[in-house]
Amino acid sequence: MSLIINGVAVAPPADPRVSLLDHLRETLHLTGTKKGCNQGACGACTVLADGERILSCLALAVQYDGRSITTIEGVGQAGALHPLQQAFIDHDGFQCGYCTPGQICSALGMMMEAKRGLPSNVTSDLTAAVTLDRAEVQERMSGNLCRCGAHNGIIDAIRLSVEAAA
Ligand code: FES
Ligand code: FES
Repeated sequence: MSLIINGVAVAPPADPRVSLLDHLRETLHLTGTKKGCNQGACGACTVLADGERILSCLALAVQYDGRSITTIEGVGQAGALHPLQQAFIDHDGFQCGYCTPGQICSALGMMMEAKRGLPSNVTSDLTAAVTLDRAEVQERMSGNLCRCGAHNGIIDAIRLSVEAAA
């Protein structure tokens, strides 16, 4: 039994009650993933599981046996930032940075959801390809809170990254 964290197989916790978030932070010392509310309300703990965004505070680590988990440490590193990380810097997408790892993982998952054609609550034409305009990005990122109020910069960074990748 093992979890694949950023491409590396690691043992699950001995205690099956340990959340994926606590396993990442407390056991594996991958502290990029943040604990905000610890109850599914803020998005700070967002990571990718096989490319889909999940809230690691609500996930038991043992549930992800054999699954591939990507944390912010697997997205980019100092000197080799992911373009979305650079966009957050360029567009003032953070102040304290506490929410930023979750914002970035969530945005990457959100972009893949849009590519798969998954609609959001504000998608008007369910038969057309998804266009990540401002309203769509705002709606799809509404589960990631920024208590510093950097939401405008965050949305700008994501939208410009989407446009650059198109
Ligand atoms: S810490 Fe998981 S949603 Fe807030
Ligand atoms: S940058 Fe501080 S919470 Fe978002």
